[in-house]
Amino acid sequence: MQKNQNDILEKVVSLAKRRGFVFQSSEIYGGLNGCWDYGPLGVELLKNIKEEWWKSMTYREDVEGLDASILMHPRVWEASGHVENFTDPMIDCKQCKSRFRLDVLTDQIASKKKKKILQAVKEKIDSTNYPELNQNFKDDDDELLNDVLSQLLEDKNTSVAVLEEINCPQCGNKNTFTAARQFNLMFKTFIGPVEDSSAVVFLRPETAQGIFVNFLNVQNASRQKVPFGIAQIGKAFRNEINTKYFLFRTREFEQMEMQFFVNPFNDKEWYDYWKAERLNWFKSLGMKEDKLRYHDHPKDKLAHYAKEATDIEYHFPFGWGEIEGIHNRTNFDLGKHEEFSGKSMKYFDDETKDKFVPFIIETSAGASRSFMAFLVDSYREEMVNNEQRIVLGLHPKLAPIKAAILPLVNKDGMPELARNIEKELRKSLKVFYDDKGAVGRRYRRQDEIGTPYSITVDTQTLSDNSVTVRERDSMVQERVEVSNLLSYLLLKLNA
Ligand code: GAP
Repeated sequence: MQKNQNDILEKVVSLAKRRGFVFQSSEIYGGLNGCWDYGPLGVELLKNIKEEWWKSMTYREDVEGLDASILMHPRVWEASGHVENFTDPMIDCKQCKSRFRLDVLTDQIASKKKKKILQAVKEKIDSTNYPELNQNFKDDDDELLNDVLSQLLEDKNTSVAVLEEINCPQCGNKNTFTAARQFNLMFKTFIGPVEDSSAVVFLRPETAQGIFVNFLNVQNASRQKVPFGIAQIGKAFRNEINTKYFLFRTREFEQMEMQFFVNPFNDKEWYDYWKAERLNWFKSLGMKEDKLRYHDHPKDKLAHYAKEATDIEYHFPFGWGEIEGIHNRTNFDLGKHEEFSGKSMKYFDDETKDKFVPFIIETSAGASRSFMAFLVDSYREEMVNNEQRIVLGLHPKLAPIKAAILPLVNKDGMPELARNIEKELRKSLKVFYDDKGAVGRRYRRQDEIGTPYSITVDTQTLSDNSVTVRERDSMVQERVEVSNLLSYLLLKLNA
């Protein structure tokens, strides 16, 4: 990561703490790795992101909402494949006891070092079986070096030889790694008072399964016909080996998932539809277009249940990272639940008289990861009259506080008028009253948390009952009649 990019992430993390967006979980006890708390402004921003998603998904006639429980029958996770396959390869450093994911270890090694490692490995193993090792590597060909090194690390016949050549990224010692082993990422707990194997349940690692098992309940209750979808927002838990980059990879997070049930004959049409819809959703909330892209999964890298898949990626300060996955999951999930539960998951189309297990187009976004993307994307520093101002250019629909009410001075009846305005606006909007310090400073405090409008009560208000409304990005001020203020703001906020 480049230094100035790194700085931006540090600045955002620091602003998030200073202004009450995000705190480290259990901070007074030294924190709990991979867990974060949302403060007064963070909880508003997160709620607004989820609300916009919920509206865009369920305020349409073909998608229903659901809130399934976090704990589910353990057979669910056998059927879904999570018990067997939801694992990451893990290694430990015997010296410093740090734990690493094998599949991302190479990210932490410089290109030159990778080349050296490959040369050393070539001398240790019979490279005739590994033609990829016999290439002329250049020092700066990081992608190729990374590919070859990762391939050899993941191959159990060569993994140990490679690990012997790598220095631990934490303590720097060489040849200190254990062999790789698989680590299941699901958190286990027990239901009821007896902690034996028959009482084991898991904290859900994705919200999707709650939707799959309720497919027919929702369909029957809502009398929806295929194609239709079920949307859900909720917590998910993964015992990630390495958490990183603030909210990007955490152990407890929130997902916003929608599973769209379709007839297999037009799965492609719906996959393309949702792929476009979801990217547009991020754009419609102001996320910069050049910071968003699709990463289509190549056919040979698709998950075993997927026919087609893409990630919506955001360009974070540390590089491109997935914020949402869109998959054509075929009839895999419903088929598996049919097999494991013995209950039919077939849909009966009473018009065509067809009976079939629908295909599923999944859109799966991280609420917390989107929160981080919106924060980073909106952060900017700019010079105004030789003074720096920090702005969170959040879309008004996402901004935690919609308007600040500022009496110019604390006398001449201005605070009373400002308090009356606050009282009226508070009935409809999240607003903030501030009478502390110079008005310029008060504007800056609002800019920094993304408040789109600041309302100032000044001398003119006393005579004509109008106020100035300052827009955060342009800093342009308009005079508005107090009697029109709420409708003026609502119009702007919902534009
Ligand atoms: N049901 C499919 C599913 O869960 P996923 O790609 O594993 O797919 C979907 O997760 C989204 O959930 C990701 O795009 C990401 O935004 C979010 N997510 C996954 N793991 C996460 C973690 N450890 N911390 C924060 N967000 C995470």
